Amino acid sequence: MTIPAPRESSEDVVLRLTDVVKTFPGVRALDGVQLEVRAGEVHCLLGQNGAGKSTLIKTLAGVHHADGGEITWLGEPFAPATPQAAMRAGIATIYQELDLVDDLSIAENAFLGHEQTRFGFTKRRSTASRTKEILTRLGHGEIPPRQAVRSLPAAGKQIVSMARALSHDAKLIVMDEPSAVLAHDEVENLFRIIRELTAENIAVIYISHRLEEIREIGDRVTVLKDGRTTAANLPARTTPTRDLVSKMTGRTIEYVFPPRRTLEEKPPLLVVDGLTREHEFADVSLTVAPGEIVGIAGLVGSGRSELLETIFGARRPDSGTITLDGKRIRSLGTAVRKGMGMAPEERKSQALLLDEPIYKNMTLSSFSGFARAGFTDAAGERKAAERTADQLELRPRDVMRPVRTLSGGNQQKVVVGRWLLGDTRLLLLDEPTRGVDVGARAELYQVIQGLAENGVGVLLVSSEVPEVLGLSDRVLVMREGRMIREAPADQIDEDTVLDLVMAGSLMEGEPA
Ligand SMILES: Nc1ncnc2c1ncn2[C@@H]1O[C@H](COP(=O)(O)OP(=O)(O)OP(=O)(O)O)[C@@H](O)[C@H]1O
Ligand SMILES: [Mg+2]
Repeated sequence: MTIPAPRESSEDVVLRLTDVVKTFPGVRALDGVQLEVRAGEVHCLLGQNGAGKSTLIKTLAGVHHADGGEITWLGEPFAPATPQAAMRAGIATIYQELDLVDDLSIAENAFLGHEQTRFGFTKRRSTASRTKEILTRLGHGEIPPRQAVRSLPAAGKQIVSMARALSHDAKLIVMDEPSAVLAHDEVENLFRIIRELTAENIAVIYISHRLEEIREIGDRVTVLKDGRTTAANLPARTTPTRDLVSKMTGRTIEYVFPPRRTLEEKPPLLVVDGLTREHEFADVSLTVAPGEIVGIAGLVGSGRSELLETIFGARRPDSGTITLDGKRIRSLGTAVRKGMGMAPEERKSQALLLDEPIYKNMTLSSFSGFARAGFTDAAGERKAAERTADQLELRPRDVMRPVRTLSGGNQQKVVVGRWLLGDTRLLLLDEPTRGVDVGARAELYQVIQGLAENGVGVLLVSSEVPEVLGLSDRVLVMREGRMIREAPADQIDEDTVLDLVMAGSLMEGEPA
């Protein structure tokens, strides 16, 4: 193993974890973790869903307390009792599931926990103006500090989390899958911010399942598997992908996307005609045939999610029609009865009953038509859920656990897995692999294609262009609420799609 010569500024170790252990009832989430982070570096943490990444960073953030091992921070033993203690010590965390207070303003969130007070009153003016300064430094001076956080899209909320980190003069900023909620250009902005932070000798721990990102922004990589460090301090740019993947999974993964199939011509299953919702999307027409996978590429905010929800009957169109197998779809109830299924984008608020066991979430009859499939007994439901859990490599595989105790990526598998059980005929997938690791991702792609082979039509939305191109038979490109291009997936490439979604004008694309 060769480790490249560190940059001058990176030589001092600020954080060191030795044999750190953390157990939850029945799970050893951290089982002897080693980690070394230097000032001014971007240290990436890589590992499959459930490997222990979030648990590790919550231990640094004072949310969890280690049961064993040693943590040193700036040369001193470190065991933060509370999140505030970790913040005060200079460690700020941007969580996988953002933890802002929706009803407070942006400025109040940014300075949460250390409001500047004078005679007991929060100094609103100076908090707002300091927040403004920080937001400007983050390249988002346009965000109004006094507005409630609720009104911001996910990317904006993340900027506020970042502002909070900077408001504390953090020396280490930990980012747990920050790019999962971001569109392509927002990731570029994030990377610019990270480069500025490291230039000021701030260390960053960066978690992502996207290897390309780790190559672009990372200095060194530590890999976790089943709560243990399987490789430490690998050079981020030069370590071959197969090495990273085998350290993560203990195996090699050959094909990420299943080989392309040839489709026979069939009359469409789904016909969408002239669908419009003001300010969201306009005049969208598309079809999906049985067994066909149609992918929609477009930026976050281009109207894709709203379109899927409208097709699913969860939003009412201003004009236009949706027909499934010749039957008009006017409500969510009809959509589900006719065999439509949807895995929405935001799993926490839209899809999961966090305190219910996994198997219940997978078999929710009102969603998946599970009762129709003939299972009404709990034992049957459990068995079926276990089969899905195997298919998707759910970890831990115990379907009796509450969903809340699953790692982020495993929760996502539950959302998608639900639709593998019912007799779904058309599946709408909104960002299905968000937060899912490379191994499970390959499984999930195979499962989706397996459904298509059995005649299920799939309409897929994803911010990851390679995913849309790799998985779909046909690709639609959406920009600012309009379909601007349609092409067979093997006749369009990534650069063309990116040009179209970002800058391409309506005139350039042949209208779909
Ligand atoms: N509060 C909790 N109670 C019980 N088990 C938990 C709890 N939090 C996490 N776990 C378990 O600890 C293990 C590690 O989870 P963790 O969230 O750290 O994984 P991760 O590496 O962040 O995965 P992902 O990539 O999916 O986000 C998993 O088996 C998870 O189910
Ligand atoms: Mg996690």
